[in-house]
Amino acid sequence: MSQSQADSLGAAPRERSEFPADDAAELPPAPEIDTTKPHIARMYDYILGGKNNYAVDREAAEKVLAASPHVRVGARANRRFLIDAVRWLAQEAGVRQFLDIGSGLPTQQNVHEVVQAIDPDARVVYVDNDPLVRVHAEALLATDPNTIVLEGDLRDPQALLNRPELRDHLDFSQPIALLLVAVLHFIQDTQQAYRIVKTLCDALPPGSYLAISHVLKDEKQEGPAAQARAMYSRPGFGAVPRTKDEILGFFTGLTPVGDGLVHLADWTVPGKSIDHAGDRKVVAVDDPAALRRLSGMCGIARIDR
Ligand SMILES: C[S@@+](CC[C@H](N)C(=O)[O-])C[C@H]1O[C@@H](n2cnc3c(N)ncnc32)[C@H](O)[C@@H]1O
Repeated sequence: MSQSQADSLGAAPRERSEFPADDAAELPPAPEIDTTKPHIARMYDYILGGKNNYAVDREAAEKVLAASPHVRVGARANRRFLIDAVRWLAQEAGVRQFLDIGSGLPTQQNVHEVVQAIDPDARVVYVDNDPLVRVHAEALLATDPNTIVLEGDLRDPQALLNRPELRDHLDFSQPIALLLVAVLHFIQDTQQAYRIVKTLCDALPPGSYLAISHVLKDEKQEGPAAQARAMYSRPGFGAVPRTKDEILGFFTGLTPVGDGLVHLADWTVPGKSIDHAGDRKVVAVDDPAALRRLSGMCGIARIDR
């Protein structure tokens, strides 16, 4: 993975002085949480400046950051896309149900917070295959009846769709926004990834939406960030950068919204009618030159069939 290819996994590392003095004192919140191996969700959390991570995650993330310093901007740009996209989906497209797969750990400006600020009755289902995500999200969501979290795997979309909790929480006769943000590149096989997206989209009614972001393959920049590639290509991580055409394949049969699938740096809210000033503070992408160098694509499409 080149320097910029790692960017959509992003980075906003804390200063070393912020590390806990004694990592051994960092006890997992539940026995099923493995703190001996780095986890994608926790590395991403660390990279975004969150606190839900362990020494092993910080160490792994720092290696990626050392090889690919622009990762920080990438994570922020990706998160900004997610926030802006769900706000547009709720505010402008009128969607009231959100299925966020590969949701990551709760951090600032979570999907349910953004959409429930527009409509407190908006319903959200978070799905992630990292048990830590469920543990943290359940604590965060204890008093929110409109948001649930499921431990589940994108690689088995039919099993996910069959989950009674999902069926109870979302009304599949009404539009649903499917969020696959910074997660499809963890599906190694491109044809499998297409099948997954098709299975999920086929289950959604017309008027639903798909929002994705994905690491873009940039062959010109091979080499300098070999460490980052090695890190993300390890079994268990396995982020697979894809070409523009391969990423475009995820929108096959769907109607692109606004400019469709674009470079992360070029994405704008369809219609540009929303004032984002407040959000820029949370996920400020304050380095325009770095933003330009990012290799990630993102966009929204509508399911019209
Ligand atoms: C880089 S984070 C993205 C978080 C969030 N979507 C965002 O963009 O801010 C990727 C998340 O995908 C999750 N993930 C990776 N493979 C997955 C799979 N097969 N099924 C469900 N979640 C997965 C990871 O645990 C991690 O939380």
